Amino acid sequence: MLKVFCHASDSKDSDQPDWEYAIRNGMPMIQRVLLEKGINDLSSSWYAAPAPEQAPLKQDCRPLTLGIGTLGRLETLQFEDDWVAAEPLGADDVEITVRAAGLSSQDLMVAMGQLSRSGLGVDCAGIIRRVGRNVKTLEPGTPVMTWKLGTFGNIARAPATMVQHVPDGMDLTTAASLPLIYSTALYSLSTVARLRPGETILIHGAAGGVGQAAIMLAQSIGATVFVTVSSEAKKNLLTATYGIPESHVFNSRDDSSFVQGAMRLTDGHGVDVVLNSLAGEALRTSWGAIARFGRFVELGQRDIAGNTGLDMAPFLRNVSFHSVNMLDLLDWDVATASRVFADAVDLLRRQIVKPIAPIQVMPFSQVEEAFRLLQTGAHIGKLVLEVQDDDLVSVVPAAAAPVRFRSDATYLIAGGGGGLGRAIALWMVGNGARNILLLSRSGTKKPAARDLVSRLTAQGARVDAWPCDVSNEEQVAGIIERCRLESWPRVRGVIQGAMDLQDALYQNMTYEQFTGALLPKVNGTWNLHKHLPEDMDFYVLLSSVIGIAGSPCQGNYSAGNTYQDAVAHYRRSKGMAACSIDVGMMLGVGYIAEQGTEGRVHDNAKAWSFLGIHEHEFIGILEATIRGESTPGSVVPPQVITGLGTGGMLMQMGEKYPWWFKEMKFSHIKRVGAHQQSNQGSGKDEISVSTQLGRCQSLDEASDIVTGALVKKLAKSMVVSAEDIEPSKPVSSYGVDSLLAVELRNWIYADIKAEVSVFDLLSSVPIMSLAGKIAGTSEMVPKFSDE
Ligand SMILES: NC(=O)c1ccc[n+]([C@@H]2O[C@H](COP(=O)([O-])OP(=O)(O)OC[C@H]3O[C@@H](n4cnc5c(N)ncnc54)[C@H](OP(=O)(O)O)[C@@H]3O)[C@@H](O)[C@H]2O)c1
Repeated sequence: MLKVFCHASDSKDSDQPDWEYAIRNGMPMIQRVLLEKGINDLSSSWYAAPAPEQAPLKQDCRPLTLGIGTLGRLETLQFEDDWVAAEPLGADDVEITVRAAGLSSQDLMVAMGQLSRSGLGVDCAGIIRRVGRNVKTLEPGTPVMTWKLGTFGNIARAPATMVQHVPDGMDLTTAASLPLIYSTALYSLSTVARLRPGETILIHGAAGGVGQAAIMLAQSIGATVFVTVSSEAKKNLLTATYGIPESHVFNSRDDSSFVQGAMRLTDGHGVDVVLNSLAGEALRTSWGAIARFGRFVELGQRDIAGNTGLDMAPFLRNVSFHSVNMLDLLDWDVATASRVFADAVDLLRRQIVKPIAPIQVMPFSQVEEAFRLLQTGAHIGKLVLEVQDDDLVSVVPAAAAPVRFRSDATYLIAGGGGGLGRAIALWMVGNGARNILLLSRSGTKKPAARDLVSRLTAQGARVDAWPCDVSNEEQVAGIIERCRLESWPRVRGVIQGAMDLQDALYQNMTYEQFTGALLPKVNGTWNLHKHLPEDMDFYVLLSSVIGIAGSPCQGNYSAGNTYQDAVAHYRRSKGMAACSIDVGMMLGVGYIAEQGTEGRVHDNAKAWSFLGIHEHEFIGILEATIRGESTPGSVVPPQVITGLGTGGMLMQMGEKYPWWFKEMKFSHIKRVGAHQQSNQGSGKDEISVSTQLGRCQSLDEASDIVTGALVKKLAKSMVVSAEDIEPSKPVSSYGVDSLLAVELRNWIYADIKAEVSVFDLLSSVPIMSLAGKIAGTSEMVPKFSDE
């Protein structure tokens, strides 16, 4: 060893030798910090969504579901992995290979951001793939139809009671058009409005799917039907197909005509039932046309979501106002939803009602065109999207599955009352964990730990904070015994984040200080390894980047951290789960953040030139280590170092190389990107705006970054120098026209992930104020709790 060290120190090739060696099997080993591609790719994906690629929707092994990249931008409709379909199938559920799914105006509202809902597509038809173990009435291979949220994809799951056989002779695209419209129409007219023979009903937007289904149902009940439509073609369809007299067809865009018409045709009494899908003034006018004892059924959700007003006077005449929200019915009363659906299909089977017409079928590859067609309001009948064999759709590249914690397991967090431990506990409960034990010497004595326990308990989890010094083996063994006595489920994962900083220069450090910082990490880590089950799902050590870079006053802490790294490697070599995360400087949460930005601790940490890590970044890395893979197929190594920049990154940020960069173990990452940067010239302007925004520490800083970027972009577009653009003046003062404003808006959206209107860009607001507004809404800017 001495020979190797002397040789390395004398070498003319290097001005800095390797200082740390290990001998394994007689072989001297040195350390090198290398890039971890999987984790780096994962973290890049948090800031720049990977571009969708063309892939088949018809895939057996990859459940996909339709989402929208940006609400309101139909060109960002794209398929992504459906993690729900990856979970075990419920005992009473059925899994269907989707062949066709109906598109409704509510899907459009969701895509445009006018209606908040967590999925697109509400009904579908396809072939049963699998059934849950309690399902006896349905079997794989059967053509079926259903309605439930999120059917735009290749696989759908629904409770067996919500799945009906496709009537004989009916094709799957027709079947996909029917479940929701007939269930809605039947529930509205029979269950809610109790429409009786001889009564009158006004059906708005009657050429649409629900409208036509309602016409057929109302006619089968024996009611007199009045309808509104928005075009001559729609009027012709209804008169020809359903024999509705022309005098009973009104213009849905002319409120006064349909109200006057309905009043005239009912001798001034008004209509008994209104089935409404019109919004705003048309809704209020229709409400005025309701007869005594009438029932108004509201299907549209725009006014309800917008909490708009309703005239109270009609209630004097014993009228009632109902809202029908089928997805809410399904969520809260699946038995009624199932019964209504079964009754509707029965009416279809007995041909009391028939499929609506026309049905326009489009492949899923034209999903954007289908939404746009719906947007024009010109189409008649129902639009159905079909999964075709060779159809390619936009698919977001596969990401690793999010972690779901087991509800039947206990998870231990040592140091769980600390800043990071508390953040981890909250995240775990949010992702399925139901039994969590926080271990620290103070147990529930500190208010933060007590508050956390109450908060998580209120969320339905069994959480406790027990006093335990993890460096004391007896106490750790006692915890395991107490778990058994108090019937906590088996421990399946541990996070070891116990830390007690006792900083001092090594020559001044007392023995107590040395062991004070060392033991929670060394003995604590070993005690947990020794006393917890060998086959746990995860064993994560929160080590520190200080163990890698070193710190003059933290020799004790550094030693403890490197011990944790070594234990992770040891456990992995024995086939046990383990990962040591060398946490960098945490921003916003944890010990350094709690000391404030003014203090010595923060200044020290800054002086190290570490890159700050936000909570979501830390949790993302923790999630990858627990899952075991960062991106699909990339196994997370036993030790992950975070918060170190490469040479290129530090140059880009205009940071000097830190002193610890001189060590040979950093020689690789020091070179990464450095050559490129020195060719391009360094300086803060060169770093991408999104990266700068992702790392900023206050909204003011973010506004300055956006101001700089706007000035630069404007200068480039106007072919002037950036010095000629004055941030205190508005964009419009530089002769920006609406075309350039649109381009600026698109650039702001693409690079800064903020929505700004052309109107705002052309207003007289100074560039810096506009930049503040953009920074405040940018998805790239972290959320600052005090702003
Ligand atoms: N925050 C950062 O920027 C950062 C950076 C790098 C690494 N890390 C690592 O992340 C982990 C958590 O950091 P943090 O910021 O959350 O620290 P923190 O807020 O100081 O929390 C540390 C926790 O450890 C507990 N603890 C100390 N000694 C213990 C012992 N012997 N047995 C049981 N519990 C003990 C403390 O509670 P009691 O005093 O009541 O026991 C406290 O709850 C640490 O392992 C640290 O090395 C953090």
